[in-house]
Amino acid sequence: METLEAIFSRQSVNKLRPDPVPRALLEQVLAAAAQAPNHYRVRPWRFIVLTDAARERLGEVFAASLRARQPDLPAAAYEKERRKPLRAPALIVVAAAKPASPREILEENIAAAAAATQNLLLAAHALGLAAKWRTGTAASDPAVKAFLGLEADQPLVAFIYLGYADVSLPPPNRPDHTDRTTWMTA
Ligand SMILES: Cc1cc2nc3c(=O)[nH]c(=O)nc-3n(C[C@H](O)[C@H](O)[C@H](O)COP(=O)(O)O)c2cc1C
Repeated sequence: METLEAIFSRQSVNKLRPDPVPRALLEQVLAAAAQAPNHYRVRPWRFIVLTDAARERLGEVFAASLRARQPDLPAAAYEKERRKPLRAPALIVVAAAKPASPREILEENIAAAAAATQNLLLAAHALGLAAKWRTGTAASDPAVKAFLGLEADQPLVAFIYLGYADVSLPPPNRPDHTDRTTWMTA
């Protein structure tokens, strides 16, 4: 798929089939993610791929966290939380690395990790996969980060829910750039 076509036709897909994503495709989208620009070439992205039972373990952490935050919810609420990672056959968590030297800037590392995330989404789309970028409470939850091997203050940029679309969506219809653009020519 041509680059501009991928950019303009990509869209978030919520409903995914349970069919597993072949490891070779996951490796391809990760390789594409790692081509993103980044200052000082520190490659400040970290990817954690969860498939199969790892998604169930993440769901247990989601549910336990919700229970710790809000202990009086009906059981169905915890069950819904537990099942969230099962909405996709593969999840790719994208985190940013904290600065490892004085010249690195946290915001730049987050920006680079976000650029890697968009590369990942576009590559997935070009390869016939469907995806959804999610964050939510889980993205700032220390228990979730600990489960994923991240530090409590390490930015978690995205949970990418990845799989094959289970819906047929009309083409995206997004506003263009004009009301967000200022031209300065003198
Ligand atoms: C930083 C970031 C966080 C997001 N978090 C969520 C989220 O928690 N839940 C969700 O449904 N969508 C989330 N999204 C996806 C956006 O809702 C989605 O991209 C937007 O609706 C536009 O749809 P499109 O991707 O089809 O253009 C997030 C997107 C970004 C960039």
